[in-house]
Amino acid sequence: MSELNLVLLGPPGSGKGTQGERLQEDFRLPYHATGDILRAAVRDGTELGREAKEYMDRGDLVPDEVMVGLIADRVAEEEASDGFILDGFPRTTGQAEALDSKMSELGRRLTAALLIDVSDDEVVRRLSGRRVCAKEGHIFHVEFDPPTEEGVCDLCGARLEIRDDDKPEVVRNRLAQYHDKTEPLVSYYDERGILRRVDGAQEPGEVNARIRAMLATLRMEEEL
Ligand code: AP5
Repeated sequence: MSELNLVLLGPPGSGKGTQGERLQEDFRLPYHATGDILRAAVRDGTELGREAKEYMDRGDLVPDEVMVGLIADRVAEEEASDGFILDGFPRTTGQAEALDSKMSELGRRLTAALLIDVSDDEVVRRLSGRRVCAKEGHIFHVEFDPPTEEGVCDLCGARLEIRDDDKPEVVRNRLAQYHDKTEPLVSYYDERGILRRVDGAQEPGEVNARIRAMLATLRMEEEL
């Protein structure tokens, strides 16, 4: 079987984490979500966490120098030899170039950059109702994907909470950062022939089915 080296792209709240969690189960590949890595560092009070927190609280991007080092080692790990799923990285052209050069150094390449497409209005609706499990980060939505028991994670029983950066004024800045710094990656990957788009406005199960169908086709084409 060929490698599956996948990048998930999309605005805040487009469903990268929701789909990433499902794809990790579907394909049994290492899944690295930079937002989760940074939030864990903030919780643990590490130097990385202290440095990242001020950017995250404002909804700004953490500098490339910090982010590139975080991911470069992970894609080179033995457990990623069949592939990996990256959620939230790269987020700038500088990060994308750094990932490309790391992949070339390893004699590998990205299989696809998958854009989960949703409108800004939908982003605001989703982030205002998002609830996240305090222990393992499982994702719910009060209206679109409610837990069985209000405020409690279905998967591990932990308390559900609202993310600090889901406040409306921070969401506005996160969206602005996305359009300014991350959206150029859509053309970056399109020019390299590996951009794939999925309509993120469908319900989560349907989005997952479409992604899986698209990846199955891609892998079949690669093996021909
Ligand atoms: P990060 O955690 O990556 O935040 P984000 O990209 O803004 O994405 P989100 O986690 O908010 O949303 P998502 O797309 O995963 O959506 P989700 O599945 O949760 O990054 C946080 C911060 O860290 C950044 O602002 C930055 O400061 C820093 N950072 C991280 N990476 C960085 C990098 N590479 N460089 C620099 N800085 C970096 O879904 C959202 C909600 O919608 C949920 O409630 C869910 O239940 C619901 N939902 C999902 N899918 C559907 C659907 N199909 N229909 C209806 N509801 C849905």
